[in-house]
Amino acid sequence: MSIIASNFKTNHTRESTSFFVKEVNDFLVSNKISDDVYIFPTSTSLDSFDTVSNLTMGAQNAYATVKGSFTGEIGTEQLDEFGIKTILIGHSERRHVLGESQEEIAKKFAFYKELGYKIIYCIGEPLEVKESGLEQTLEYIYEQFAGIDTNYENLILAYEPVWAIGTGVTATNDDIRIIHSTLKSQIDKPLLYGGSVKVANVREICELDGVDGALIGTASWNIEDFKQIIENTKDL
Ligand code: 13P
Repeated sequence: MSIIASNFKTNHTRESTSFFVKEVNDFLVSNKISDDVYIFPTSTSLDSFDTVSNLTMGAQNAYATVKGSFTGEIGTEQLDEFGIKTILIGHSERRHVLGESQEEIAKKFAFYKELGYKIIYCIGEPLEVKESGLEQTLEYIYEQFAGIDTNYENLILAYEPVWAIGTGVTATNDDIRIIHSTLKSQIDKPLLYGGSVKVANVREICELDGVDGALIGTASWNIEDFKQIIENTKDL
């Protein structure tokens, strides 16, 4: 069974999110698909959606707090309102665009772990690191586990090479296989691949040894494409 996750990033409105979630839910029900599907909408589009148990709504980000004075952030008080118990942590855009340090990420991880959240924890190297070789790449990725409890029971990992995110350049099957098999030999957790996954390549990627599913941005924002992605991987 594959795990298929859609990261909306800064896309969709409350209205289009609600339509999207209903469409995905109906698709899973009418096709009797039991794969685990996750949708991470923007914080403004979080809501109490009526979904089947294998469709889970999660937060793209939240601060390590219940509530308080953290302008622009949300905490668990806002997530609890909608029963959200799933969060993405360590996404490359939070690390590299929003400047979250490993220390902040580890603090956030510990906070949400303590509350029993399902955490999808992202790691991945930028292009210059990849170009410096496999050893350097693995070293860089291992540093992204500093302060992270990789034995946490509710943990899913996502390998998302930064150079493959939103670029249309997917990692090669060999790239994915090498990183996934190395990580899987050390951390026994589901491991998703992310980075320019599309309708046309999702099945091939999810079939690779050590790949338990996909975390998808761009190609998942169109409802018909996302349904096709789920369809293409449902029997794996
Ligand atoms: P793209 O699918 O747009 O490359 O984004 C991947 C990603 O960052 C998912 O979290």
